[in-house]
Amino acid sequence: MKIVAYNGSPKGKRSTTHLMLEEVLKGAQEKGAEVVNYTLSEKNIHHCTGCFHCWYVEKNKCILKDDMEDAISHFQDLDILILGTPLYFDNVSGMMKVFLDRCIAYGSYFIEKDEHGESKHIDAYKEKHKGKQAPRIVVISNGGFSEQSQFQALEFMMERMARNMSSEVIAKIFRGQGPLLTLENEQLKPVIDNYRGLLRQAGREIATQWSISKQTQLKLDAPLIPVDVYNKKINSR
Ligand SMILES: Cc1cc2nc3c(=O)[nH]c(=O)nc-3n(C[C@H](O)[C@H](O)[C@H](O)COP(=O)(O)O)c2cc1C
Repeated sequence: MKIVAYNGSPKGKRSTTHLMLEEVLKGAQEKGAEVVNYTLSEKNIHHCTGCFHCWYVEKNKCILKDDMEDAISHFQDLDILILGTPLYFDNVSGMMKVFLDRCIAYGSYFIEKDEHGESKHIDAYKEKHKGKQAPRIVVISNGGFSEQSQFQALEFMMERMARNMSSEVIAKIFRGQGPLLTLENEQLKPVIDNYRGLLRQAGREIATQWSISKQTQLKLDAPLIPVDVYNKKINSR
């Protein structure tokens, strides 16, 4: 199984997103998965200009010359695509959005109807990769508030995007109180170590069952510390 994670945090390897991706990938690797952790902030990826050269002039070829070709080279024989992003205004970071927009070059302009009669683009991945299904999607995000409800808009956007890619979101790991994970704090160490262990467990499950078990998900979704304690801690900085 091949899993590639894209980190859309502008903080790159210093980010909570990186820490989360590393643990999940470690777990997946333990179960034999081939993994890549791709840090978008280390690359030069420009905004899509919407010229549609990639659709109507040269198929799947973007006219922008930057690191997008390198980023996308990992799409070959991909089974699971992990999108890792900090929560920015209830959605993906700008860096992740720029990357996702540029992926349009590898899609198809042909339109079909899905099983509910709603329009979508045809499955370009299958067409290009000898019938292989489009990579399944895992979403990993963290935010500065505590509640899982903060991730609703991101979750909806990812579900819609997966539908349009003829794929599906097979797992979601949303971490409120995200900044705690990268704090050097002796008191919090057991809580953080426990959460890191849960992330590795999630990685093992994703690599073997293509999903996260209910038991693991419940533990992953629990706040790290009580919400009021967290808010007080942040407000007193
Ligand atoms: C521009 C911006 C917008 C943000 N918007 C949200 C938000 O809507 N909800 C939230 O919970 N946290 C929000 N945050 C906080 C970040 O999600 C939080 O600091 C996170 O831990 C950063 O993750 P990273 O270290 O992986 O980059 C925002 C931060 C920034 C800089």
